[in-house]
Formats: sequence, structure tokens, C-alpha cells
Amino acid sequence: MHPLRQAAVIVPLLLLVQSAVGVRRRLASVTEPRATFALPNFTVYHRQDELLREVVDIVNANPGFMKMDAFSERDGAYDAEVKVVTIEPGGFTNRHHEKVRMLLDFGEHGRELISSELGLLLLKTLASREGVLGVFPGELDRAQELRRLLGGTIIKVLPMENEGGRRLVEAGRLCERKNGRGVDPNRNWEVDWGTKEPDYDPNEEYPGTAPFSEPETKLLRQLAEEFKPHVWLNIHSGMEAMLAPWDHVAEIALEARPSVDILQRIFQDVMTNTTCVVGSGGKTVGYLAHGTATDYMFKILKVPIAYTWEIYGDFKAHFDDCFRMFNPLDEEGVKDVLQRWLRAIMRLVELMPSHPALKDSKAWTLPSSGGGGGDGSASGWTAEAGGAELTHQHGSDGGQGNVQGGGTAPTTGAGATTSSTTSTTSKTSSTTGSTTTSTTSTTTAGSQQEDGPATTAGASSSSSSSSSGGSTDDQPRIAVVASVKDWGSNWNAQLSSGLLAVLGLAVVGMLAYRCLSRQGEDPRRARGSGYQPV
Ligand SMILES: *[C@@H]1O[C@H](CO)[C@@H](O)[C@H](O)[C@H]1NC(C)=O
Ligand SMILES: *[C@@H]1O[C@H](CO)[C@@H](O)[C@H](O)[C@H]1NC(C)=O
Ligand SMILES: [Zn+2]
Repeated sequence: MHPLRQAAVIVPLLLLVQSAVGVRRRLASVTEPRATFALPNFTVYHRQDELLREVVDIVNANPGFMKMDAFSERDGAYDAEVKVVTIEPGGFTNRHHEKVRMLLDFGEHGRELISSELGLLLLKTLASREGVLGVFPGELDRAQELRRLLGGTIIKVLPMENEGGRRLVEAGRLCERKNGRGVDPNRNWEVDWGTKEPDYDPNEEYPGTAPFSEPETKLLRQLAEEFKPHVWLNIHSGMEAMLAPWDHVAEIALEARPSVDILQRIFQDVMTNTTCVVGSGGKTVGYLAHGTATDYMFKILKVPIAYTWEIYGDFKAHFDDCFRMFNPLDEEGVKDVLQRWLRAIMRLVELMPSHPALKDSKAWTLPSSGGGGGDGSASGWTAEAGGAELTHQHGSDGGQGNVQGGGTAPTTGAGATTSSTTSTTSKTSSTTGSTTTSTTSTTTAGSQQEDGPATTAGASSSSSSSSSGGSTDDQPRIAVVASVKDWGSNWNAQLSSGLLAVLGLAVVGMLAYRCLSRQGEDPRRARGSGYQPV
């Protein structure tokens, strides 16, 4: 054989062998770590039915200010039930429209178990004065102020929005985030519904056949339309972030800026020494999300303070090691995450009056309804005289007490001082108190405005261009191979076109290998094009 021909055959063959080895290696890297993938430890985490049973126990023990509704909806063969706990720490009244209203959603994605654990801990905490006192241990002024604020607040909590998806996770599908029939509940809302990014993965974020095709989202929308919340908080995991609208474009909505100022303060007071980021979903997370609940609450239902909070994420986890990626594994880790984010929620309650939409609210100057609401309703725990004797609801313990116990040292410095100042002001004059409070808060918020947007600027534009850069780079190279093929017109045509075909195959093989192995090597990148927190 002519040496040139020999080389022409051998070189492509070598390339092919090399790429085949590459594919084998890639397969090995996927299967290898499987043995070490983390499983939930159910002495640390609650099973679904345990968690929901504990919620019922807490509610039953506190009939004066807690109740639970279960809404269900059927679509074809698919049934969904959404449980909603209503808490009025100041006691049930018929003055809902005068109070400040918060709607908190936990467990929207099946695999994010830690989210519902925080929902349960929040309910336990709100069940008694001692519970709330324990959030900022030793800070009595602060606890006093929290009590006053909660006295004028109604809180609705969905401890586990997506029961169907959670069931699949506990049956072993630890990577499942969608609902019980494969639709992502956080892509099924109407704002920019169905828009797909280049790296769209139906396995992660199938948005359904139409907006509100799913019982869970239908029920939640209806609830929000009737309740008209001032605050919407959607609790997820996959990273540490506090996000405001928008999710579907890479910018902070103009009207969301005051709520981002609040996030900056929560960050400074509670999230130092964490990887938590503050910004808009679309700008900060590294991908755009279309049809999300938070964008709908903000844009359509005009909820002034609308957030998605991501409370935990392990970036180093292998991209199929989902329980590890989305949930802290051991008791210590769980306790740490829950305590920090419980403080963040209470910090949000403290800061609500600084928001323009709420600063003139009369909710907090209402006479405490604990003593004698005109309607003769039962009382909550916020009244001075301690109306309902505070049965501190530790629930039917189980593996529970471990998660509670506010023994962790307070991480708040500046925040504590600010709020204790404001609480003294409001105590001396209860009628003008709330105005004074909000003035103080707005001043501080204003001074922080500068570093807010700067922190997150440009984060997503760079990451989105880098990911699309990869594919535009690859396409022309394959196109060149195809057009070169047409040149062959002399007696060498057959040989050269055969040669080029083999070469082309080798190039395609190598490109495929490179793509695959890149995915295997870098979980963070793979997550960007697949696994999603929001
Ligand atoms: C599960 O958690 C409990 C409580 O922290 C611990 O004692 C136990 O060793 C853990 N089990 C596993 C398999 O890690
Ligand atoms: C945060 O980290 C710094 C430096 O590592 C440390 O000095 C400080 O005590 C930490 N603060 C908290 C609240 O853990
Ligand atoms: Zn999520």
C-alpha cells in the first residue's frame, strides 16, 4: 500500500479508537460514583406523612390562632391536594383586610426536602411566644417588636405544595422536582409561559400543556387571588440566594427595587459568611426561568414583596447526586440551615414596615386583638396579658427536638441595634410608632441602595453568552467538512471523499466525546444546562 494511503487509513482509525475510549471513560464516570450517592437520613428528615401529621398536630393544639384547609382538585386521573395553614398570632379576627398578609410556599419541588423542613419549623415557631423569642435569643426588645408586628399579620403557609412529586422522591426518584405527573409547578404560571431556553430540558422543567394546566398551580393561584398577600415567599433549594423579580428576564424589575433593599439588609444581618447572593432570578442564577410563580405573583397579582429564596446548595455534588446537591446531609447541617433561614424570615417580618407599600399600614397600630376582638374570637399569643396560655408546641417529639432549639449564637450585629432602637420608639408612642419606625428603616435602606445592584450586575449576561458560545463554535466546523466533500472531481475523488468521510466521522466522534466528557467533569456547568434550583 502507498504510504500516504496507509496513513490516510490509520490516522482516522486511531482517532476513532481514541474517541471510543473517551466514551467508555465518560460512561465510567457516570456510573462510578453511584455507590456513594447520598440518601436521605430519615432520622434527620421527616417522611412526607410524618411531616404532614406534625403540621396537623400543631394546628390542632392551637385552635385560637391556627387553622388548616386542604384544597383538592382533579384533572383526569390526576388528583392533587394542597394543604394551607393559616396563622394569626394576634388571634383570629374578621379584620383580614386590615392586617398585613404573608403567603409562604414550601416544597414546590419534590427533591428539595429541606424546604418543607423549614416550613414545619416556622409553624412550630409561630405556635408560641417562646418559639418566637427563641429566634433571637436574649434580645428582649427585639422579641417584643416581633410580637407587635406579628400581632398585625396573617400568615398562610403551604408546608408542602407538591405532595405528588415528593411522593415520587420518597419512592426513590431522588432527582424528581416536578409534580406527580411530570410538570414543573414553577414553570406552569402564565407570565412568559412556555418560552424555552436553548438548554431547555423537559426532564427538569416541562411547563405543562398550558398555563395552569396543573391542579397545584390552579389551587395556589386561586388562594393568592383571594388572600391578596403583601408578601410572597417561595422557598427552594439548589443554591443560596434571595431573589426578587424577574425570573424571565435578566434584570431587576423597577418596582421590585424596594424589596431588593430589604434583601440587602437581611443579607447583611443574617447571611454573612455564606455564599448567599442577592438579586433578580434571571440575573443571578445564571439562567432565565419562564412561567414562574414569583413572576406571576409580582406582575399579575401585584404582590409588592415577592421573593424566591434558595436556602441550600452543594455545588460540588455530582450532577446525579441529587439529594446531596439540594439538601444538607447530616443533623448539624440541617440545623444550621434551618436556624439561619428562620432568622431570615423573622428579619423579613421586622423589615416589612420599611417597604413603601406597607409603611402606611395601620395593621401594626391596631389594638392588639388578643384581649377582646369585637367578634369575641379566640385569642393568639401576642396580647400583653398573655391571653391564651402559651402551650409551647413541641409536637409529638420524634426526631424533632433536634431541629428546633435556638441555641445557635446570633449572627446579627448592626441589624439588632437598628431594630431595638425602633422598638423602643414604637413602645413609647403606639399611635405614631409605625411611622417613626418606617422613617428610620427607609433611611437605612436608602444608604444601601448603591451596593444592591452592583453586587449582581452583569452576572448572567456573561454566563449566558459563554454557554451559547460553545455551540456556535462547534457548528461551523462540521459544516466545513461537508462542503469540502464537494470538491472531489478528479480520479482521486473516490479516495478523497472516502477519506474525508472517515475524517468527518472522527471529528464528529471527538466533538461528541468532548461534549460528553465536559458534562461529566463539571457538575456546575451541567446544572446550568440541566439541574435547576428555581
Ligand atoms: C442519621 O442521623 C442520625 C442522627 O443524627 C445519626 O445518629 C445516624 O448515624 C445517621 N445515619 C446515617 C446512616 O448516617
Ligand atoms: C465570619 O467570618 C469571619 C472571618 O472568617 C469571622 O471573623 C467571623 O467571626 C465570622 N462571623 C460569623 C457570624 O460567623
Ligand atoms: Zn426548586
